[in-house]
Amino acid sequence: MKATDLRGILGYMARFRDRLFVLSIDSKVLVDENFRNLLLDISVLRSLNINVVIVHGASCGIQRLADQLSCPVSDLEGMGITDSQTLELAIAASSRFGHNILEGLAETDVRAAITNAIVAHPAGIRKGQDFAHTGKVERVDTQFLKTLLAEGIIPVIPPVGFDGNGQTFRVNSDQAAREVAETLKAAKLIYISTHNGIAEGGTLSAQFSVAEAESYLRAQSSSLSADLRSKLEHGLHACQHGVQRVHMINGLQDEALLGEIFSNEGVGTMIYANEYQSIRPARKRDVSVIMALIREAVAAEELVPRTRQDVLDQLANFYVFEIDRNVVACVGLRLFASEESAELQCLFVSQAHENQGIGGALIEFACTKAKSLGCKCLFALSTQAFSYFQQKGGFTVGNLADLPLDRQSAYEASGRKSRILIRKLSA
Ligand SMILES: CC(C)(COP(=O)(O)OP(=O)(O)OC[C@H]1O[C@@H](n2cnc3c(N)ncnc32)[C@H](O)[C@@H]1OP(=O)(O)O)[C@@H](O)C(=O)NCCC(=O)NCCS
Repeated sequence: MKATDLRGILGYMARFRDRLFVLSIDSKVLVDENFRNLLLDISVLRSLNINVVIVHGASCGIQRLADQLSCPVSDLEGMGITDSQTLELAIAASSRFGHNILEGLAETDVRAAITNAIVAHPAGIRKGQDFAHTGKVERVDTQFLKTLLAEGIIPVIPPVGFDGNGQTFRVNSDQAAREVAETLKAAKLIYISTHNGIAEGGTLSAQFSVAEAESYLRAQSSSLSADLRSKLEHGLHACQHGVQRVHMINGLQDEALLGEIFSNEGVGTMIYANEYQSIRPARKRDVSVIMALIREAVAAEELVPRTRQDVLDQLANFYVFEIDRNVVACVGLRLFASEESAELQCLFVSQAHENQGIGGALIEFACTKAKSLGCKCLFALSTQAFSYFQQKGGFTVGNLADLPLDRQSAYEASGRKSRILIRKLSA
C-alpha cells in the first residue's frame, strides 16, 4: 500500500470511527486463499476503531462434507429445505468456518467470539412442502451483540439460528446479515461474495440509489443468479430500513474490502439509501481534493494551471459536488460585478462520475448563482470542452468583446486561444 493510500484512509477515519459495519462473507470466500488477506483487512478496520460484526455462510462447506461422506444433501441455495442430515453437516461446516475466522483474527490479536445471537423459528410448510430444519430469523439478540462490541470483541454469527426449546435451524446468511445490520443500525452492510458486484450489460455498476436498484431488480430479476438476487433483495430491504449503505464486493480480490470502503470510486457495487448528493461552497480542507481532482485535466491542458495558493485565494468562488460526502467535481465562479457578468471556471468532473449529469448540474448551479448576484451573462473559456458547453450547457460562441475589459487583456496574455462561450441569463 502506498503512503498516498494511507493519507486517503485518514480522510475517512473521523467519519467511520465507532460506526458499525456488518460483513456478510460467503462460504466460497472462506475457502479461498485470499481469505487470510480479508481477515487482515478486517483487522485494519478494527485498528481504526470501526466496529465489525461477521456473519458467514456455510453452503460450500456443507457440500464438501457431503461429498467426502458420499451422502446426499438437500437444496443449499438460500432458503432451501434442510433435512436432518443436512442440518448435521451445516452445524459441522459452520463450526469449522467459525473456528477458521477466530484462528485468523487471533493472528493479528483481534478478539472475536462465535455467538448464538440469531433467534429462529421453523420456516414451516410452504406450498405443501415442509422445510424441516430450515429456519427464518425471528429476531436478533442485540443486547448480546452490543455487549461484545462494547468490549471490542467481533461477534461471529454462523448461519444457524436457535429457538428457546434447544432446536437449531439452518438460516440464510444473507437474511441473517441483513437482520443484524437493521437491528444494530449499522452504517454499512457489506456482502462479500465471489461476484464483483452488479453488472449492467457487462459493465459493473458502481452505485445504485434505492429507486434505481428497485427498478433494476424488477427488470433483471430473471437474469440474475439466485445468489446475487438474494443479496440485492436483502440489500434493498436493509437500505429501506435504516442501513445507509449496502456494498457488494468480490472477496477473492485482494484489498477489495479496503478499496471499497476507502476510495471514492469503490471496487464493487453500492446501494445508497438517500440521494446524498449536494453542491456546496468549497472549504479549506477541500483544497487538496480539488488539486488532486484537476491535476490530470491541467496536464492535458483542459484546465488552466492553478497552484494550491491560487485555489486558496479563490476559495470563496469555488463550489464542490459531493456524493456520499466525497468530493467528485468542482467549479469556480468569478464575478465581474461592474459588468454584470461572471466567469464559469475550472469545471471538472472526476472520470468515475462522468456522464451522470454532474457537469450539467454544476453549470445550472453557476447560472442560478450568477443570476442571484445580479449577472446578466455567464461566460466560460474552453480549449477542449467547447462543444460540451454548446451542446449540453446552452452556451453560444462569443468573441473577445463579450468579455469584461479586465478579462480581455488576461485572455490575450494567456495565449491559450480558448473558445469564448457565452450564456445569457434571462431575468
Ligand atoms: C466536460 C465535463 C465537465 C463534462 O462533465 P459530465 O458530468 O460528464 O457531463 P454531463 O453528465 O453533464 O454531460 C454528459 C454529456 O456530455 C458529453 N460530453 C462530455 N464531454 C464532452 C466534450 N468535451 N465535448 C462534447 N460533449 C461532451 C457526453 O458525451 C455526454 O453526452 P450524452 O448526454 O449525449 O451522453 C467533464 O468531462 C470534465 O471534467 N472534463 C475535463 C475538464 C474540462 O474540460 N472542463 C471544462 C473546462 S472549464
